[in-house]
Amino acid sequence: MKDIRQAKFLRDFCLIADNMYRLGWDERNGGNISLLLDEDMNEYFDGVIREIPIAFDATPLVGKCFLVTGTGKYFKNIKDDPETNLGIIRIAPSGNVAELLWGWRDGGRFTSELPAHLMSHIARLSVDPQNRVVMHTHPNALLAMTHVHPLTTEAFTHTLWQVMTESIVVFPDGVEVLPWMLCGTNEIGEATAEKMKLARTVVWGLHGLYGAGRNLDEAFGLIETVEKAAQLFMMYNSTGLEHINYITDAQLWEIANFFKVTPKAGII
Ligand code: 13P
Ligand code: ZN
Repeated sequence: MKDIRQAKFLRDFCLIADNMYRLGWDERNGGNISLLLDEDMNEYFDGVIREIPIAFDATPLVGKCFLVTGTGKYFKNIKDDPETNLGIIRIAPSGNVAELLWGWRDGGRFTSELPAHLMSHIARLSVDPQNRVVMHTHPNALLAMTHVHPLTTEAFTHTLWQVMTESIVVFPDGVEVLPWMLCGTNEIGEATAEKMKLARTVVWGLHGLYGAGRNLDEAFGLIETVEKAAQLFMMYNSTGLEHINYITDAQLWEIANFFKVTPKAGII
């Protein structure tokens, strides 16, 4: 049997969670991460520790394994004690049970946002079979921005693109925006997954955002860039000075053409 503690994917996951905590995005138990595992988990584990019911139909993911943060677990503690704060689950043939293969040794369970995560995985895989990561987090500036900026996909995307040159290169698919909704429910999961078919970033008004990617770095880098653009927006808006310099729509097209990215339709 291989030793899970030596697995690179586990080390990378812990490092990413630690960075998210250090950046101030994940206070207390705020935020959650799920990573679809490509490695064969039979090489690490030979049994199921316990079964945990899932309150929705995850049939499209039957047999797939995920490394997931636990509900109520603090990001700041993940690196030092992954086996308490994280779990590896396999979706059972019924599609509504998670088989716990490792982790949550204190009797814990997966994040309350599992519906949004698994539904987002299904949605992202339908448009990008290489997608592996879904991250939910509470970055400060982005969250502040949802208090003062119109909560539409078009307006939000346009503002974030205009703030700095790199934005449209890193997220040409834009940011999809949801209004405030009750978190932890299948309803917000379904709404998030619908949006995830259109973009890798989904803003939850007055709560935070979801980011997806082909690996941990890509999802993290995406969120980091969106958050930086939001920080700049909040920064110059709090100076009280007149906003006199913009990246124009023509310049956004120039950037998109040069970097060979296709901007989300209907924004510029
Ligand atoms: P969990 O502790 O259940 O992961 O919830 C944290 C969170 O951010 C809810 O949206
Ligand atoms: Zn949250």
